[in-house]
Order: sequence, then structure tokens, then C-alpha cells
Amino acid sequence: MKILIKNGLLVDPSQKINKIMNVEIHNGIISNLHTKKNINEKIFDQVIDAKGLVVAPGLVDIHVHLRDPGFKHKETIDTGSHAAVAGGFTSIACMPNTSPANDQPRITKYILDKSKKVGLVNIFPIGAITKSLNNLKLAKIIENIKAGCVAISDDGFPVSNSRLLFDAMILAKKNSFPVVSHCEDCSFSVDGVANEGSFSRKYGLKGIPNISEELGIIKDIAIAEYTNAHLHVCHVSTENSVEIIKEAKSRGVNVTCEATPHHFTISENDIKDCDSNYKMNPPLRAKRDVVAIKRGLIDGTIDVIATDHAPHSAEEKKAGFKNAPFGITGLETALPLSLKLVHDKKISLSNLISLMSTKPSKIININRGSLRKGLHADLVIFDMNRKIIIDKKMMYSKSKNTPFDGIKLKGKVIRTILKGKTVYSSI
Ligand code: DOR
Ligand code: ZN
Repeated sequence: MKILIKNGLLVDPSQKINKIMNVEIHNGIISNLHTKKNINEKIFDQVIDAKGLVVAPGLVDIHVHLRDPGFKHKETIDTGSHAAVAGGFTSIACMPNTSPANDQPRITKYILDKSKKVGLVNIFPIGAITKSLNNLKLAKIIENIKAGCVAISDDGFPVSNSRLLFDAMILAKKNSFPVVSHCEDCSFSVDGVANEGSFSRKYGLKGIPNISEELGIIKDIAIAEYTNAHLHVCHVSTENSVEIIKEAKSRGVNVTCEATPHHFTISENDIKDCDSNYKMNPPLRAKRDVVAIKRGLIDGTIDVIATDHAPHSAEEKKAGFKNAPFGITGLETALPLSLKLVHDKKISLSNLISLMSTKPSKIININRGSLRKGLHADLVIFDMNRKIIIDKKMMYSKSKNTPFDGIKLKGKVIRTILKGKTVYSSI
């Protein structure tokens, strides 16, 4: 099976490529990249004309909640996979806060088997740090890594027991995998439902102060520095968090971090009518925090964009701002929201692909995020200038809990290709 993708703007930061090029795929593998003009198209089984479009390595999201097993009314591996490819993602890593939690090889095997059956997107499970995410005892970490997990995390909650986190980091260092941490000091955030700020004050809601996140990051960085393990900080949302991580990096601490599209796009001031589709943890922060997250993306302190795709049913979200669960969907809005940084001339297109594909692959040590000859042909083809209106009714995710419904953006996924096979096409 030979495929030609011709005339696209090839953007592959892993090879410093940013020009009009043709891509040849042979049996699911990138076989050639070139600028030849007179190509004998007859030798190809499929020719895709990408004129006027961007051709990039498939996007990689290292922070996704797939909800399966246990919460299939919110999302399944099948619906989550469809949402991923519709968003241009070819690889996603899924968090272990399922039911049961992914704290042992049996669950990892279940996810891997199911994801292979669906066959749309590469799914890389993340194993739990503590058994049942209960903060009392380590999960079967090494067994789970051997079964196929690429990292460990108790995301949704912090590992507040410092000694347990230390023990986990010792294992992580020894076996070269990252510890992905939801950093939060819950003694400051307990019962909080929104950022401690203008919105929470206006509606009399219990606040989540910036310091709850920052204390969590400071503690985790201290343990990473002590053990030399790779700490990856989830969903950074405050100005000081960015500064703390920047300073740790400058001292040589092995720390990386991510920001979500919602945290660099909207602030607490944008929350409409106490709509619980604006409720997530960490919460939407103040304007100056949003500016700082953007700055962190521009200056490289923030390594990757990750969605924290957190589907919840309409029923659950109906419970009101105070009682609804935290989380919003993200897979199908991430690319156009992030492209706004390019359209606003904050970062280059190449930088964006690096933030959404090259660097996330490196963090979880997967051989993706590149269109180098010999690698899997996982690609996304998109029109960066096409005007779109976000429409939650058109989304593939089982849940529609997004605050971005109806907004106008630029950027449309045209085709997503996994190992040479088109797994999503919008034309
Ligand atoms: O908003 C969130 N939703 N934050 C988390 O930490 C967990 C996630 C979820 O699982 O719903
Ligand atoms: Zn999460």
C-alpha cells in the first residue's frame, strides 16, 4: 500500500522542517519526504492533495480521561477514540481514575485490548501511583509499567503523602518513566469549587486559592530534586506556578509541565451565568494568570499543551456550579483554541506542533510526534485558516461539557491518519 500526500505545508519540528513537501507512505511507514515536482502518481494506491493545508505529525495528548472501565455513561474507549481523531490526535495517554482505578496490569491490559479493537488512535495508559488512588499504599507500579503503562499519576488528586511520592519517584528514576502529578495542597482547597477571586466572591462560592496549587508544586519539585526523578506537572494554572517551575528548571531539576487550552484562553471573568461547564480543577484563574500561562508557553517554561479532556454527562453537570463534578471535554476543541496563539502571533506554527506533538511524545517516551523516515505514518492534515464555529452537537465525545460551544475560531482538522490509514476525514 503506497500513499502520497502532496503539496502540503509540512511542519515537523523534530526534523526542523517547515516547507511545502510531499510525504510518501509505504505500508503504514513514512518512506520518503521530498520536494520533487514531477511525480509519477500512478505508482501510488492513494494520492491526497494537501495544497493549502498543513501536514504535521499526529497530535499527542498526554492528559485524557477515557472513563472506561467504570464510567461508560461519560465516555468509552470507543467514543473517546473517535473524539481524539476528530481533534487531530493520533496518540493519547489516559489517566487511571477509572473504576476500578488503573492500579494493576489487569486494567492496563483491558484498556490496551479495547483500544486495539477500536483501532483509531494509539492509547497509552497511565498507571496509578497509589492503590485505588487512596494515598495509603503504592499501586503495583512496576508490574503496571511492564504491562504497558508509560507513566504514573493519581490525577484528580495529589499524592499528599510525601513519603509515598518519594517511594514512587525512586521507582520512576530507576526505571526511567515520568511521575505525572496533579499538584494541590487540599488543606487550602478543600470544598472549593471555583478560583478564589471575583467569580467566587460574586456568587458566594468557596474558593480554591492559587497557593493550593503552588504549594503542591513546591513539594513535588523538592522530592523530584531529591530523587532526580522526572516530575511532570499537570495543568499549570497560576502565575507563581510558572515562576516556580521556571526557577526549578534553571537549577537543573528534572521537571516538565503542561497547560490546558482552557487555562490559556479564558479566565474566571468569562464564566457565564454560573454555568458548570466552566467548572474544572484547577479552576479558571484570574486574567493575570492567563497572561502568565501564555508567557510560559512562549518562553518555553511550559513544555506541552494537554487537554485534561474530562467528560461528564449532562445530568451530572446539571447539579449546579457547587455540586457538579469538575472537568470539561477538550479533545475536539484543542487544536483551534491553540491555533489562536499562532493567529495572534504569540508563537509560531512550528512551535505549536512542538507543544502538541513533538514534546508530549518525548515526555512519555513514545516513538511518535515525528515524521522521520522509518517511523509510523501518524499524521494530521488541517486547514489553519478555515473559519469554524464550535458546535457541541457535532462532537464525537459522549459528553458535551464544553464552555466553548458556539464560539468562532480558525482551524479545522481535514484528515487524521494512523499508520497510513485514514481514521478521520471531514471531507
Ligand atoms: O477538572 C478536572 N477533572 N480535574 C481533575 O483533576 C480531574 C478531572 C476528572 O477526572 O474529571
Ligand atoms: Zn485530569
